[in-house]
Amino acid sequence: MSIRHFINLPDICADELKGIIKHAHKLKAEKFDPPQIMAGLSLAMVFDKRSTRTRMSFEIGMKQLGGHTIVMGMGEMQIAGAESIEDTGAVLSRYVDAVMLRMSDHANMEELARNTTIPVINGMTNDSHPCQIMADIMTIEENIGDLKGKKIAWFGDYNNVCKTFEQAAPIWDFELAISTPEDLAPTSTGDKVTYYADAKEAAKNADVIVTDTWISMGEEGKSIDKFMPYQVNSDLMACANDGAIFMHCMPIHKNEEVTPEVLKSPACVIYDEAENRLHAQKAILAWSMLK
Ligand code: CP
Ligand code: NVA
Repeated sequence: MSIRHFINLPDICADELKGIIKHAHKLKAEKFDPPQIMAGLSLAMVFDKRSTRTRMSFEIGMKQLGGHTIVMGMGEMQIAGAESIEDTGAVLSRYVDAVMLRMSDHANMEELARNTTIPVINGMTNDSHPCQIMADIMTIEENIGDLKGKKIAWFGDYNNVCKTFEQAAPIWDFELAISTPEDLAPTSTGDKVTYYADAKEAAKNADVIVTDTWISMGEEGKSIDKFMPYQVNSDLMACANDGAIFMHCMPIHKNEEVTPEVLKSPACVIYDEAENRLHAQKAILAWSMLK
């Protein structure tokens, strides 16, 4: 049987992804009495960028399920010197049962996965953030139910998180409106995805309003002036459906991509979203490691 890497959502069959989310809801219900399904198993976590949520939720999640973790900054590893991805993958495979990485270069993560005999889990690359989107799907289901036919509207930068929502749209059968400055408009939009230059048009009839930082890690120094028309504020929220929720993967830059009144409003579910990283990732670990 092939190794169950969790790197690209479209590489995993829709039923399996939906099964992971179902398991995540169950694990959340069991959060005070977690099943010890990872007993005797170890997860390595490697980061080449900052993290609060990804690092803590994977570490706590693995330990709650009875497993072990080891964390390293990529800069501390020999891969930051001359050691090859091939040797790194082979050696990690002899020590641990899975590896979760935050690795800027997506192609390098895929290359590592070709050189391991253990699952590789994508803890974010410059191109995608599938663990975040799994937690987001779970959060949307908790708040507004089945995603089928719902409208999710994304504002601001066309970045790794947005691109992963784009991959998720045909899997969960929701409509994704993407509203960014015109020079960032996706060159080709996937199935179920529509681009809007006008933010208010994009927000119309939306069930979920979502944004992220305008300056992703590694893009420091970039100008943000052109993003202001895509700020999530009360006026934009008023264009969405009654009961629409506001989501953000965090960290937040207040008064840039979102205003304080939106963050304080009942629509804001960002802390549920952050908590759900824990439950969604436990289910991802189980899917990858316990097949
Ligand atoms: N949302 C997210 O991935 O947060 P961290 O960068 O803190 O891990
Ligand atoms: N788009 C952001 C997400 C951080 C969780 C980044 O890449 O920095």
